[in-house]
Amino acid sequence: SRAWRGVIEEFRDRLPVTAGTPVVTLLEGGTPLLPATRVSQLTGCEVYLKVEGANPTGSFKDRGMTLAISKAAEDGAKAVICASTGNTSASAAAYAVRAGMVCAVLVPRGKIAMGKLAQALVHGAKLLQIDGNFDDCLELARKLAVDYPVALVNSVNKYRLHGQKTAAFEIIDALGGAPDVHCLPVGNAGNISAYWMGYKESDARPRMLGFQAAGAAPIVKGEPVTSPQTIATAIRIGNPASWDLALKARDESGGAIEAVTDRQILAAYRLLAREEGVFVEPASAASVAGLLQASDEGLLRRGERVVCTVTGNGLKDPDWAISGAPAPITVPVDAHAAASALELT
Ligand code: F0G
Repeated sequence: SRAWRGVIEEFRDRLPVTAGTPVVTLLEGGTPLLPATRVSQLTGCEVYLKVEGANPTGSFKDRGMTLAISKAAEDGAKAVICASTGNTSASAAAYAVRAGMVCAVLVPRGKIAMGKLAQALVHGAKLLQIDGNFDDCLELARKLAVDYPVALVNSVNKYRLHGQKTAAFEIIDALGGAPDVHCLPVGNAGNISAYWMGYKESDARPRMLGFQAAGAAPIVKGEPVTSPQTIATAIRIGNPASWDLALKARDESGGAIEAVTDRQILAAYRLLAREEGVFVEPASAASVAGLLQASDEGLLRRGERVVCTVTGNGLKDPDWAISGAPAPITVPVDAHAAASALELT
């Protein structure tokens, strides 16, 4: 065995790069495909988690960002811009550092998790909080990229999806074949489109099941949502950029895109933490919440092989872990007091 080289070097022959493309990488990808014992029990399926929070900046965005920033560097870009609910901006900020570029990010004011804000700031991004939602931020970022010398690195940048499709390659490698079903959270709809691209390029055809938060479910409703609401801020999006590609992924694969409530999302979030040992951010738990719902609805056959992508690390948004947990107990430096507080006596 040898050291992991990042997604561009690992999958070079399947990506739109040449020998002349400078490789900007943090050695992303190569994430765990973890058997999910409890979720398997609950569904009667063979369930795996693709743990994307194990990427360098803590989300799947790094797979797309290594390619988007490398191609921007190849084109001579000195600055990049993105709109973000937090993870894209964290990733863009880090990869821009590696590339020696300026990074500008537009985020919805008050609606991004603290850890993600910290990431953009610590990497020195120019951060603008916009008085609006993600959809407003993306519209603004697109305009700025047209009128000013700055490259757009949102998933409307085609290189992003090519980078993100590599997760499907890794899953097929790890399982020795395609899963029967693949579950994902859906926000701007880039990732479900990227996985479907990766599967199709591998002649694999899992049913793609995408899940939106009930208060931010434009694809389920069939029309944009002007004021999207959900505690899963990463997927608080009312007008997804890759809407058409997501519909294609759904229809070509014989899959579905459905809604899950915030209550279901938080229940799956706690289940993953307490019964699988995996700490994800709330949006990531939508894939597992959706799988449990699909199982209840009878959309799965016994023993089917299912992969749920859990998209981001729980440390990015610890508020939901702390609220709802019992307050920590304070004790003096005393074994007896500690033992009694721990109910060991
Ligand atoms: N999960 C997490 C943790 C995300 O950050 C996102 C998207 C998604 C799921 C949904 O993926 O947009 O490809 O359908 N986050 C973007 C951002 C919008 O700005 O970080 P999608």
